[in-house]
Amino acid sequence: MSYLTKNYNRKKISFKYGKGSYLYSTKGKKYLDFVQGIAVNSLGHSHPKLNKALEKQSKKLWHVSNSFKIPEGEELARKLAKKTFADFVMFQNSGTEATEAAIKIARRYFYTIGKPKKNRILCVRNSFHGRTIAAIYASGSKKMTEGFLPKVGGFDHFKFGDHKDLKKMITKNTAAIMVETIMGEGGIKVIPDWCLKGLRKICNKKGILLILDEVQCGIGRTGDFFAFERSKVKPDIVPIAKGIGGGFPLGAVLMNKKVAAGMVAGTHGSTFGGNPLAMKIGSTVLDIVSSRIFMNNIKKNSKYFHYKLQELKEKYPKIIKEIRGRGFLIGLQLYKDQTNFIKKLMDNKLLTIRAAENVVRILPPLNVKKSEIDQALKIIDNVCLKSE
Ligand SMILES: Cc1ncc(COP(=O)(O)O)c(C=O)c1O
Repeated sequence: MSYLTKNYNRKKISFKYGKGSYLYSTKGKKYLDFVQGIAVNSLGHSHPKLNKALEKQSKKLWHVSNSFKIPEGEELARKLAKKTFADFVMFQNSGTEATEAAIKIARRYFYTIGKPKKNRILCVRNSFHGRTIAAIYASGSKKMTEGFLPKVGGFDHFKFGDHKDLKKMITKNTAAIMVETIMGEGGIKVIPDWCLKGLRKICNKKGILLILDEVQCGIGRTGDFFAFERSKVKPDIVPIAKGIGGGFPLGAVLMNKKVAAGMVAGTHGSTFGGNPLAMKIGSTVLDIVSSRIFMNNIKKNSKYFHYKLQELKEKYPKIIKEIRGRGFLIGLQLYKDQTNFIKKLMDNKLLTIRAAENVVRILPPLNVKKSEIDQALKIIDNVCLKSE
């Protein structure tokens, strides 16, 4: 009997501890963890530098109210601003809070400049921006919103990749276009660089803000700090979470000067967001991920992984339909429903997770070793062989 609400379809497996890329179950079994808390444990489990940062800060100060100046938060915000397009940063605790805050920032900007009716947010149908009541209506997904009426208004949707639909849905009241640079839950679908450029152009032309949700694909996951960086596009607002905390709940919204001007004292807040403990851990993750060697390793090892997965696709053309994604945000799209395949991978001690469109989502830690990638490839090969 479990007293936990059944909002998750949990697998009957629990873990005692984790180290690097591995999880160790309560039954003494060792699993190669290519879920990593769904792209959260960016540095794997129990990273010594994160453990040290947590231990050190936990002995000094965990939490103080945001009504005081928090030097640890100032430090992380400064590092993020120096590293990215952002002029300002606002801390939250999770991805959905970060996307909600992004929506508020966009609306508040237009309110501040005397255009309060310019408040609609245009999103991709069947996208994922979190589970709060506004975020589910931002997703434009029946599955996410069923049973949660009344509808939260203010969101319009277009079909992924349909440029005509996108242009049709823009009105004079569109405040922002909010998209995941790489759709995670939606099936690891990448917005090509030229499309991102096109989005920026449309936004500039129509006076619309561009929000790129990098909650899942950001913080080095694709081999660039942000997935949009390769396109050279500059967004106005970027919600982040997951990887920046390395396993500690931490979210943030990065924004430019123009939109930050609307967020004066009292417009938004968070009791927990940006506390010293979270900030020190976030800072440590950022320092590690910011190293050029670390980032080059992600690029090199993920290229190898993609190359080898393509080989498996050619070896099993009736099972694997497509290899999707970039860097260590990988989707193995199957011809059939992926449930059984994921179970077989798990039986062979490789943990992965599903995404839409029959996709097996593969999310190794960013510091995964080549030998661990080889181990995963061997298991995938075996499962493909037995699925033929
Ligand atoms: C792109 C994207 N945005 C927002 C969220 C919501 O994040 P959280 O679950 O931390 O609220 C997620 C979570 O998977 C996500 O992938």
